[in-house]
Amino acid sequence: MSKTTKKTSGLSQDKNWWRQAAIYQIYPRSFADSNGDGIGDIKGITSRIPYLKSLAIDAVWLSPFYPSALADGGYDVDDYRDVDPKLGTLADFDEMLAGLHKEGIRVFVDIVPNHSSNLHEWFKEALAAKPGSKARERYIFRDGKGANGELPPSDWVSHFAPSSWTHESTFGGKNNQWFLHWFAPEQPDFNWENREVQKDFLKTLKFWSDRGVDGFRIDVAHGLAKDLSEPFRSMPVHEGLEQRGNKGKGIWGDRNEVFAIYKEWRKLFNQYDPPRVAVAEAFVHPERLPLYASTKTLGQCFDFRFIETPFEAHAYKVATKEAIELAQKNKSSCTWTLSNHDQIRHATKMGLNPAVNRRSWMLSNGTSHPLDKESGTANALAASIYILGLPGSTYMYQGEELGLHEVTDIPESEIQDPQYLRNLKVDKGRDGCRVPLPWTASGSSFGFGSGGAHLPQPKWFADYAVEVEEKDESSPLAIYRKALSLRKELQTKEEIKWHKTTDISVLHYSRPNGWNVIINFRAENYQMPKGELLLSTRPVVNGKIPAGTTVWFKKK
Ligand code: BGC
Repeated sequence: MSKTTKKTSGLSQDKNWWRQAAIYQIYPRSFADSNGDGIGDIKGITSRIPYLKSLAIDAVWLSPFYPSALADGGYDVDDYRDVDPKLGTLADFDEMLAGLHKEGIRVFVDIVPNHSSNLHEWFKEALAAKPGSKARERYIFRDGKGANGELPPSDWVSHFAPSSWTHESTFGGKNNQWFLHWFAPEQPDFNWENREVQKDFLKTLKFWSDRGVDGFRIDVAHGLAKDLSEPFRSMPVHEGLEQRGNKGKGIWGDRNEVFAIYKEWRKLFNQYDPPRVAVAEAFVHPERLPLYASTKTLGQCFDFRFIETPFEAHAYKVATKEAIELAQKNKSSCTWTLSNHDQIRHATKMGLNPAVNRRSWMLSNGTSHPLDKESGTANALAASIYILGLPGSTYMYQGEELGLHEVTDIPESEIQDPQYLRNLKVDKGRDGCRVPLPWTASGSSFGFGSGGAHLPQPKWFADYAVEVEEKDESSPLAIYRKALSLRKELQTKEEIKWHKTTDISVLHYSRPNGWNVIINFRAENYQMPKGELLLSTRPVVNGKIPAGTTVWFKKK
């Protein structure tokens, strides 16, 4: 294949653009709706390019927009090389891509290689085919146990449904076999030992790369290789981090064979100019992250540690140091992230007493314990501005720039997420962070579109609307904008130096060009050292940094 140089109007040709990029995650169905059907779409994203530009981000990452029956919010893909007709067309995609590129914003798409949907052509073909056929070999079909094959082939537990095996008759198959799915039954796992599957994903990656897509976020990147030797090993509880990374020999997570797949992908990525980039979503032991982030494999791997790091100085310092060391080991760069479409929004987490069991709190519709929204938003902003100063790239999630909170009281009848619907209803699920964004303070769906919204938006969304925050220079939006654009000027060598502070609940670091960052977690007031104040998440009066505040300043 020849090198592809796309029309890259506003884009730099720097091969290392991704190392310190700010990447904004768009959940397309909840970002902006151009046709009033209540579902966000590609044209909606295009219409908001000026907004994206105003954020001074380097790239957007789009969660799946492919045809899907939405058994898992689009992570159940019917066709990897198309756009869901409810969201638009490939032509709309190209138009969006060109528009973003023109403004210097690159684009990541989400690749879901562990499983397709049950409506994918291949799965339909497999169901109609006989055991042992070529069509069934693309997935993981097995005979059941018991006298008549009436029991699942193994005790493996799935992430959503109790068993990770579903009898094919559920979807109309007539051969008395079972198929494997790590997630919902509507998400049958591919057989990655099958060359046809491997080749088809190369085709998909090439399809999007040729269109000009700059990067890929790889869903469940640790899941593709599985130990399918029989008799099956036992996994009566869902394989967690503790079992995973058994030196690369777990049952279905983080097995060493997975890297051969990514090495082949890397060869493809490197045929483009600049090379296509990828970031792995891999829930593995931290020491295994570098294997996914290697220059020979995907190049970057999400380090999710800040999602659960308590808002506290010592914990932040340890997490920062460890993440930087890990990335350096591998010549990769850090991947800071506080929120995404699978997590309770970090403004909400930070407004809750840390002792509260969040899962129960969510199941009580957010009523069992008080939420201090104001301090949640302020602390979340301080945390975000702290990580935006660090070397490496930041992956942020739509709405966090508004300080938006989780919607905790979505009625059961409106919940879409299988994590609630399938998981014996012991977990409220992830819809609360996927509610369509408020753009205006009024209107049927707060400016999301001219119709309604596919998940109910609470009244308080009005206070967080883009339109409202744009008028307030102390709003989270104004501060994010300022930080993201300043960051471009301040970015320098991927180095950090820690400075002593006079209070243990304050951290201070600097970057090589005199850019300093102080975060005050709890000290009543902390005296800012001499320097030029560039930014603060709460007002600094007479050099005093209040608790729950981050400041950026420059030392002369
Ligand atoms: C995605 C989830 C999805 C799961 C299955 C994840 O890691 O981020 O939203 O439910 O993969 O595809």
